[in-house]
Amino acid sequence: MTSINVNGEKRDLGEVDRDTPLLWILRDQLGLTGTKYGCGVSECGVCTVHLDGEAVQSCVTTVGEVGDSVVTTIEGLSDDGKHPVQNAWREHGVPQCGYCQVGQMMMAAAMLKTNKNPTDEDIDSEMWNICRCGTYPRIRAAIKTAAKEMQK
Ligand code: FES
Ligand code: FES
Repeated sequence: MTSINVNGEKRDLGEVDRDTPLLWILRDQLGLTGTKYGCGVSECGVCTVHLDGEAVQSCVTTVGEVGDSVVTTIEGLSDDGKHPVQNAWREHGVPQCGYCQVGQMMMAAAMLKTNKNPTDEDIDSEMWNICRCGTYPRIRAAIKTAAKEMQK
């Protein structure tokens, strides 16, 4: 029996292959479909979740690698959907098609823990997630708004 801690809850997974990508477990087994599939090879960032607070790509993180670490998905980023990053995303109307946006927010939330006042250059280098709709200017603006809110 394998179990992992997701969004503060211990979740029993039954007998699973330790090499199963975390993304499959989250979406197919636990029904946490906020996290999306894109490239499957850590190139797009759409599947980003937090492992002990740090951004990781769940398409290339195996369930065996998770071990006792705490997984946080967009469903657990806040209790009420009002994490400063989520609020800023709404305020700036960031999403277009929306597909990449959960990964973008999870990456931004992790970045803001260590870089509390990121510049455009910081954002461009740390936020390597791809957005096919080109929402990058709004993402930068929203991150700066969230950073200000988190400093209050
Ligand atoms: S699906 Fe994981 S980085 Fe693209
Ligand atoms: S909003 Fe469409 S891919 Fe980013």
